[in-house]
Amino acid sequence: MPSVSKVGERLGLNPLSPPFLENPYPFYHELRATSPVHWLSSVQPEGWFITGYKEAAAILKDARFEKRMRIPQISQAYEPLVQIQKNMMLFQNPPDHTRLRTLTNKALSPFITGSLQLYIEETAQELLAQVKEAGTMDLISDFAFPLPVLVIAKLLGVPAEDRAQFREWASVMVRTIDLSRTATTLSAGGEMAHKLIDYFHCLFTQRRKHPQDDVISALLAVREQEDKMNEEELVATCILLLVAGHETTVNLVGNGMLALLRHPDQLHKLREAPALISTAVEEFLRYESPTQMTVRFAAEDVEIGNVLIRKDEQMYIVLGAANRDPSVFPKPDQLDITRNPNPHLAFGAGIHFCLGALLARMEARIAINTLLHQLPYLHLESVTPQWRDLVGFRGLQSLPISFME
Ligand code: HEM
Repeated sequence: MPSVSKVGERLGLNPLSPPFLENPYPFYHELRATSPVHWLSSVQPEGWFITGYKEAAAILKDARFEKRMRIPQISQAYEPLVQIQKNMMLFQNPPDHTRLRTLTNKALSPFITGSLQLYIEETAQELLAQVKEAGTMDLISDFAFPLPVLVIAKLLGVPAEDRAQFREWASVMVRTIDLSRTATTLSAGGEMAHKLIDYFHCLFTQRRKHPQDDVISALLAVREQEDKMNEEELVATCILLLVAGHETTVNLVGNGMLALLRHPDQLHKLREAPALISTAVEEFLRYESPTQMTVRFAAEDVEIGNVLIRKDEQMYIVLGAANRDPSVFPKPDQLDITRNPNPHLAFGAGIHFCLGALLARMEARIAINTLLHQLPYLHLESVTPQWRDLVGFRGLQSLPISFME
């Protein structure tokens, strides 16, 4: 039994309370100051909250901490979700993880090219052209959401007309692995998983008959040539790419723009020197990390930072907290678009390091520079934008802005 300290309870740490959703960082600072490896019984399932950078990075790179299935196998309704997770690289350990990751990388990376960059630039401009006349927009639904959806749809070879469904699919799927999940969200996920499985099976049948220049055709070719990925793993990989490929990128663009609009000096600096976009995007990733948290389980007893973690205990690795650790990032609560070095953990670390990091960076740089270039007078329409009620994923419900002089 771990030594239970009550700091989480004393802080009233309810990750779904409005103050926490609005600004979780003071809570993280206090937890870290008490202990960077801290047992919390106020979350379900109970587990260790890792808020220190050194400890988070060490756990992510240590094979003694492993991935496990996160869907409780207690209801028939969750079965399709269990099937998908079982076959997703994100929830697997070597050697299956290594095999799936290598094959997916082989199919995906040839598509991350200069011509994709051109497509992203044109799409960003087209989306802004559609709202320019109005003088106001919801930055999330008019821009930050459709852009990555169109990009991942094009990459995978999924018809763009289906994109309205993707938002629903992705947000239902994300809730099934978030700390906020309930029996209702899990059942909704199970139903959605059915639809997704059918959708991709249909697409595979079409692509087998008529291969195209897209990632799905490339994955089918890799699978059929090397016979190293079964049909269920192929479906799970496509679902992972579809969900991971835009849910987080929407939030990077939205969170980054909110941070800039709240820091006019930094906005001005970036407008004056657009080449700062690379360090700026790294800073947005650190400052408001779209993936705030990931999970590992101890495969054996391990000591981390003088704390004994027992076999099978669950670890919440709070990337958003590690990225504000003052022992690594001077003035961590300050947004500094020139921060360098910036060794944030927003894409994770170790063998599960984000497979789409290159693409996400490319999209965010283009999206934000296009916005600043096309819309010279940007203002926040609301001083209290609404955050989504998720704990592990940080993003805005909407971000109304105006851009008339
Ligand atoms: C700002 C955008 C993004 C962020 C913040 C992000 C974050 C992450 C993080 C933290 C992980 C590791 C999770 C863990 O260790 O448990 C991860 C894994 C992954 N991401 Fe991303 N991601 C982003 C965009 C993308 C995109 C655009 C794609 C695909 C096109 C993608 C595909 C993946 C995949 C396939 C994995 C699993 C890798 C593995 O298990 O080996 N991500 N991502």
